[in-house]
Amino acid sequence: MRSFLGRDILSLKDFERSEFFRVFEVSEYMEPIARNRKNVDMLKEKTLVTAFYQPSTRTRLAHEAAMLRLGGKVTGFADPKMTRAGDFYRESIKDTVRMLEYYGDVIVMRHFQQGAPAEAAKWASIPIINGGDGWGEHPTQILTDLYTVYREKGRIDGLTWVAVGDMRMRTMHSLAYALTKFDCPITFIAPPEMSLTDEFKAEIKEMGLNFKEAEHIEQVIHEADVILVEPVVQPDYTKPRDERKGDVGMTPSNYKITKELLETKAKPDAILLHSFPRMDEIPTDVDSTRWARYWQEAFNGVVVRMALLALVLGAME
Ligand code: CP
Repeated sequence: MRSFLGRDILSLKDFERSEFFRVFEVSEYMEPIARNRKNVDMLKEKTLVTAFYQPSTRTRLAHEAAMLRLGGKVTGFADPKMTRAGDFYRESIKDTVRMLEYYGDVIVMRHFQQGAPAEAAKWASIPIINGGDGWGEHPTQILTDLYTVYREKGRIDGLTWVAVGDMRMRTMHSLAYALTKFDCPITFIAPPEMSLTDEFKAEIKEMGLNFKEAEHIEQVIHEADVILVEPVVQPDYTKPRDERKGDVGMTPSNYKITKELLETKAKPDAILLHSFPRMDEIPTDVDSTRWARYWQEAFNGVVVRMALLALVLGAME
C-alpha cells in the first residue's frame, strides 16, 4: 500500500483496495473522538486551508470540524467573490494555490471546473483534497458513504447497490470507480438526459464494474442492500453558483424513494444513503424509518475527514 503522507486525494479511480480499508481503519480509530465531542492535539501544529469556489454546507464544514477535532487550525474562503479569483483579476488556480500553500499545510478545494483540484495539485507543494469538482468527482463523500456501509453492514463485498439520481453527479463517478475495487453489483437509474455517458460506461466496464441500468426504482429496489440517492432536480454543477428561479418541478416517481415503496418493496435490512442537500426525492417521513442512514452518514462525514487529514499530514501512518 502506498503511503498517504503528503498525498493528494483527487479521485477514487486510482485508490487501491487496501487503501479503502486503511481509511476505514483510521476512521474507526477517530470515531470515539467525534462521538464524545472531544478535541485532541494530533494536528495541533497544522493548518487546513479551505478554498471553496462553489457553495457547500457539509464538505467544507465537515473538513473544518475534522481539523478542529484534531486540534488543528483552519483558514480559507467560502465565497470566491471575496478573493482575487472572483473579481476583476480572475486570478488563476496556479497563482492562487502558490499563495495558499504558505498559509497552511493541506488545502481542500471545491470548484465548478472539473479538474481544478488536479490543476491545483500540479502547483501546490502541500496536499490537495478534492471537495467536489464540477461534474467530476467527490472522493471524500464516497469514502464517507463506503465507510457508512462498512459500519452499518460490517462489510462492503457481496452487497448489491442501487444508485438513483443524476449520473452526471460527481458522487456517482467516484462511487463507480470505488466499486470497481469491490465485489458489488450496482444498478444505475437516471433520467435519459442525466444517464452515464457511453465513454464513462466503457471505462468502468473496462475496470471490471458489474453494472446495469434500469428505468424505474420499483424494478430493482427489492435487489438492493444499499440504495444511494442523489437529486434529479438540482443545480448546474458547472456554474460557480446556480440560484433557484421559479418552479423547478418535482422528482418523477422513477427516481423517488417513498416510505410506501420501502415498506412494500425494499429488503428490511437495506440501507438508504443520501449525501444531501435533498429536494423531494426522499420525503421527510422516510427519515425515521429503519432504512434511513443519512444522519449516520453525516456524522461519518466528520470522522472520515479526520482520518484523511491525519493520514495525509502524517499523524497516522
Ligand atoms: N454532499 C455535499 O457535498 O454537500 P455540500 O454541497 O453541502 O458540501
